Formats: sequence, structure tokens, C-alpha cells
Amino acid sequence: MLVNPLVSKYNVPGPRYTSYPTVPFWKNSSMTEKEWKIELVKSDTKTIALYIHLPFCESLCTFCGCHKRITKNHQVESPYIDALIKEWELYKEVIDVDFQLKELHLGGGTPTFFSTKELERLIHAIKPSVPNGNCEMSFEAHPSSTTPAHLQVLFDLGFRRVSFGIQDYDLKVQKAIHRIQDFDTVKNVHELAKKIGYTSINHDLIYGLPFQTIAGFLATLEQTMKLMPERIALYSYAHVPWIKGTGQRGYSELDLPQEQEKMQLYEMATAYLISKGYISIGMDHFALPNDSLSLAFNTNKLHRNFMGYTTKSSATMIGLGMSAISDSWGAFAQNEKEVETYLAKVNKGELPVFKGHILDENELFTRKQILDLMCHFRTELPKTQAYWMEIRKKLEPMIQDELVKIDGEIVVVSLKGRSFIRNICMAFDYKLHNFEMGNQLFSKTI
Ligand SMILES: C[S@@+](CC[C@H](N)C(=O)[O-])C[C@H]1O[C@@H](n2cnc3c(N)ncnc32)[C@H](O)[C@@H]1O
Ligand code: SF4
Repeated sequence: MLVNPLVSKYNVPGPRYTSYPTVPFWKNSSMTEKEWKIELVKSDTKTIALYIHLPFCESLCTFCGCHKRITKNHQVESPYIDALIKEWELYKEVIDVDFQLKELHLGGGTPTFFSTKELERLIHAIKPSVPNGNCEMSFEAHPSSTTPAHLQVLFDLGFRRVSFGIQDYDLKVQKAIHRIQDFDTVKNVHELAKKIGYTSINHDLIYGLPFQTIAGFLATLEQTMKLMPERIALYSYAHVPWIKGTGQRGYSELDLPQEQEKMQLYEMATAYLISKGYISIGMDHFALPNDSLSLAFNTNKLHRNFMGYTTKSSATMIGLGMSAISDSWGAFAQNEKEVETYLAKVNKGELPVFKGHILDENELFTRKQILDLMCHFRTELPKTQAYWMEIRKKLEPMIQDELVKIDGEIVVVSLKGRSFIRNICMAFDYKLHNFEMGNQLFSKTI
């Protein structure tokens, strides 16, 4: 096996930077509804992205790090949808009356756990605020629980993008992660979605899962190419067994590909996808050249928020549902993380936030730098000299290793450096500089 010395050097625990500051560094371990409303009123709420968290899944996949609730009881659907509609009504009292909804994403958990009737009820309640054609609507779907009716009803409601959770087709891996899902199931839903008219289909794959091998993962990629989804998310497996409720205990750490093998899985998959015509977008993502994500990347219009990479940049993102995070650019707020507490607060007529963070000037500046690095692989130098010296010190080994270079006022990430983008962002994250990183805060960067 070819050993890449940079892998051992840079494989440390680090954030994935879906926000800055990252959640463990939020100041307001408790944020009141009143504080959050004040922030919202101060912010630009003319353009809104809406994320709706639908947390239920019928069966636990043991690798999963998402906020979910496992149940086979479908009675939970209706009260949960009632609460989402109520929560949205509460938000409408606070945001700009002429707001425009630019994006609507159903995430989870498993949105297709819900019946088409309940999903229709939810979207009909929100739809009056969606002027036709202007809002990009997408949802996450578990191939095994996605029926033809789900695909048709959601299409009729305006959804044009769907993201299927695949992870890996290797049976040994599937057994270890408790997620048996054969290629034909995926093929059927994928082809039906195409036939109905969905314009962008995404497949989520993960490298670094237990028992993965180069040959096995290559076979997964070859299967994926039979369907040629417009987008592929190639996630690094985040091993975070210390987080309550993840269920990441069905296999031993020794069953996971170790750091060099994991990097080889990533490098093999990246080279393979590029050889098949995909464009590598920011961190973890690939898209066919004509997909809107590639077009946004090529024209420097890519944006990143809690939903991942997006082509639209809305001033404010509102997260509805248990554990959902909202972002007004100047502040973040997270909803209650248990279904029962979430329902109780909404049913009392309260926005169900429980913690958050208000950004100061320095944080806003760093936030912009990290966003630039994640989306465009380049950023401007900080204005303050002292600040810059500190960052420069952290970047020095990466300059030596040719992961970044400094070009006048601009820091540019090299092609080689893209695999280490989390480490490069960490150099700009001054909150980490004086922080003794415990092992149980973030997953490792490789
Ligand atoms: C909400 S799930 C997808 C929708 C649906 N529940 C399903 O399983 O098909 C979102 C995605 O997060 C990714 N994910 C979950 N846990 C992860 C982990 N520990 N490390 C990396 N990616 C993870 C998976 O790729 C998964 O498809
Ligand atoms: S991967 Fe999807 S279906 Fe599996 S537990 Fe996580 S959210 Fe639920």
C-alpha cells in the first residue's frame, strides 16, 4: 500500500464547517425565544430558505449520525405535521411580510416515512408562500420507503430534486451498518423519478464504513454509474459514537478502514468520478457539468449552509422541526432536540428554540472566510495584522506541503489541498487556536 505521509500528519479531529462558529463553540447554551425573535427582526428576511426536519425512520442504520427517532408507529405523523405548520405560522408573524421563499428542503430522518397525505398537507399549508417556479424544492428519500406515490405527489407539489441515501452496495458493509438495500430497489425508484420528470437526482455515498475495501467500493461506484445521478455526495464516514443516540456501536473500531486506507478510498472514488465526467464541487460533492451545482461552482455562485451546498444564497434560513437549526447570518438558533419537548413548546405557541449564538464582528469576518474556502477554495487575507500572523503560523506547514499558497492578498487552495480543506479552514478558525481539542468533539478530518 502506498503511504501518504500527509494523511497521518493532518488526520486530526476537526469541524465540517456547516456553520461558523461551529455548534460546540456557541456562546448561548440557552437562547430564549425572545432573544431569537430580536435577532430575526434585525435581520434581512426578504429571502428565505426553509429546511424542514422530518425525524422518523422505521429502522436504525447503525452508522447514522443524524437527529432521528426510530419507530414503526405511524400515528406520530399527524401531530408532528400539525406542529410544523404551527411553527411556520409563528415564524410568519416575525419575518418580512413580503418575504420570498427561495428554497424548501425536506430532510431527516426520513421524509418518505410520512404518508403522501401528510406531506401534501404540510406543503399545502406552506405553498401559498411559494410563488410558482421561484422556489427550488428538494427532499431526502430512503429508496426502500419511497413509493411511486411519494415521487408523483411530491413532483406535483413542485419538487424537482431528490436525494437518495445509498451509502454502499457491498452486502458485508450493508449488514454491518444494518441497512440492506439492493441495487434493483435503487434502480427502480431512480428510474421512476427520472420518468416523472425530476431534473436533479443525488446519491449519497459514504467512504470509511466498516469492512469497506477498495474493490468493494469501486463496485459500488460502478453500480452508481449505471444510473448516472446528476449529483453525488461522497461523505467521509463521521465516527462519533460518543454522541447520544447515534447508535454507532454495532461494529468495532477495528472494522473501520484505518486512516491510510480511508484516504485511498476517497482518492480512488474522486479520481473515478472525475474520470466519468463529474466535476468536484467544494468538499464532498460531485455533479455532472450541466447540473446547476456545477454551473454555480464554475461561476463562483456556490453557497453553503446547514443543508450543505446550494445554488441559492438566501439571507435567512429557517429550520422547522425537532433539532433544526436556523441561521439569520448574524445569529444561529437550534430547536429542541427531543420530539416531545419540541411538540410541547410549539403547542404552547412558542418558537421551540433552546440554544443559539449571536456573532460578533470578528466571527462574521471569519465566517465569510471559511465560507469562501469551502465554496471557492480561496479567500482574502484578514485585515488585522495580528490576526493574520496567527493564521499564517498555522498555515505555514500547509504552505510547505503545497496545500495552499498566498497570492498577493489572496489565499488559494491547491488541487492537492482540496482533500485537506477542513484542516485549512481550521487555520482560520481562531477559536480553535487556543483550544485543547478533546477527542470527543469532532470526527477526524480524513
Ligand atoms: C437523513 S439521511 C438520508 C435520508 C434517508 N434517511 C436515508 O437513509 O436514505 C442523510 C445522509 O446523511 C449521511 N450520513 C448519516 N450519518 C453519517 C455519518 N455518520 N457519516 C457520514 N455521513 C452520514 C448519509 O449519507 C445519509 O444518506
Ligand atoms: S441513514 Fe436515514 S434511515 Fe438510516 S437511521 Fe439515518 S436517517 Fe434514518
